[in-house]
Amino acid sequence: MRNYSSPEVQAAENFEKLIFRTSSLTLQRMPPGLLPSRIPKDDEVLIKVIATDSNPKDWKTANAGEWMNQSDDSSGTIHSTGSAVAKFHAGDRVAALHRMWDAHGAHAEFAVAPASTTFRLPPNISFEEGATIPLCAMTAALALYQHLKIPPPWNPVPKGTRFPVLVYGEASAVGAFALKFANLSNCNPIINIAGDGIPFVESLNVADIIVDYRCGSVVGQIKAALKGQVLHVFDPISNKDSWEHILAVVPLDGHRAHINSINAPRGVSLWPPEELREVRYVTLLLEEGKLTAHPFEVLGGLEAVERGTTLLSEKAVSSKELAYRISDTPGI
Ligand SMILES: NC(=O)c1ccc[n+]([C@@H]2O[C@H](COP(=O)([O-])OP(=O)(O)OC[C@H]3O[C@@H](n4cnc5c(N)ncnc54)[C@H](OP(=O)(O)O)[C@@H]3O)[C@@H](O)[C@H]2O)c1
Repeated sequence: MRNYSSPEVQAAENFEKLIFRTSSLTLQRMPPGLLPSRIPKDDEVLIKVIATDSNPKDWKTANAGEWMNQSDDSSGTIHSTGSAVAKFHAGDRVAALHRMWDAHGAHAEFAVAPASTTFRLPPNISFEEGATIPLCAMTAALALYQHLKIPPPWNPVPKGTRFPVLVYGEASAVGAFALKFANLSNCNPIINIAGDGIPFVESLNVADIIVDYRCGSVVGQIKAALKGQVLHVFDPISNKDSWEHILAVVPLDGHRAHINSINAPRGVSLWPPEELREVRYVTLLLEEGKLTAHPFEVLGGLEAVERGTTLLSEKAVSSKELAYRISDTPGI
């Protein structure tokens, strides 16, 4: 039975209060010395959070009535590690993906993440930039490399081989990472669909064909530009239009085309993401400048999370991530 008077339980309950709720800011500072010894678990790390961000999942979950610390993206320094973690040590600069819907999310001074979804931040990447990377980059990587089975950047499509890929919505944060990964994998041509974000997509200088979903026939434009078939499609937007357009340009014989939607197909387990054992490869790509973060804006401290989440829910943000610096939070 739970002993409610034990110092460990009291500390754990204080820890739970280090959270942000969309409708009310509940922050309580706790000296690290009071952190309960069972946090983190054996295969987890405890991160002293320096920056975090907002993702569409945060408002979608909040709208569904789930009150919790929503953030899954953190960057900061390792505070402590579980007993089975050998690769990280206190003080390491890292960014991490928190396990969705678990306790101890990243809108807080301290957050927990599996060591397997934590990667080092090289010195050329700021904490604010680093906080915008984990969830988007890993979502795009899982889509391309787990679901679509596109050749990975370390064993790319051989030079001279045609390997068309269509990413629907490359101006989105997830779509932009998919575009960058497709380029690292030497996919060609890379076809993308965007609107207001077209100048941003052009600035990345890796999309071969850009179709404007606001003008004319999207299907006609894709077919005219493609001159052949596309068999690998990733759709981070996943609305009615995107599906109609995609189904009109892939062969519908049921076995050649591979389409990955942001909504997991039936029967696919998203967790644990075994392939993300390779997540540390992201550090190398960032360090060498082969992978860059999405553009971002720091809105303030945790008091700005409600504003940022609302902007995302109103679809008022184009081609950028919204980040927060914990030390900018009033009272911290
Ligand atoms: N962020 C994540 O880490 C994450 C993780 C898992 C799942 N998801 C899901 O993935 C989806 C995208 O998330 P995100 O964070 O990448 O969103 P985001 O960056 O906020 O997406 C905004 C972009 O979506 C583009 N867009 C909107 N409607 C479009 C359409 N009909 N056709 C083409 N592009 C369109 C817009 O491009 P234009 O400016 O060109 O109009 C806009 O720039 C959401 O459903 C989200 O829940 C996101």
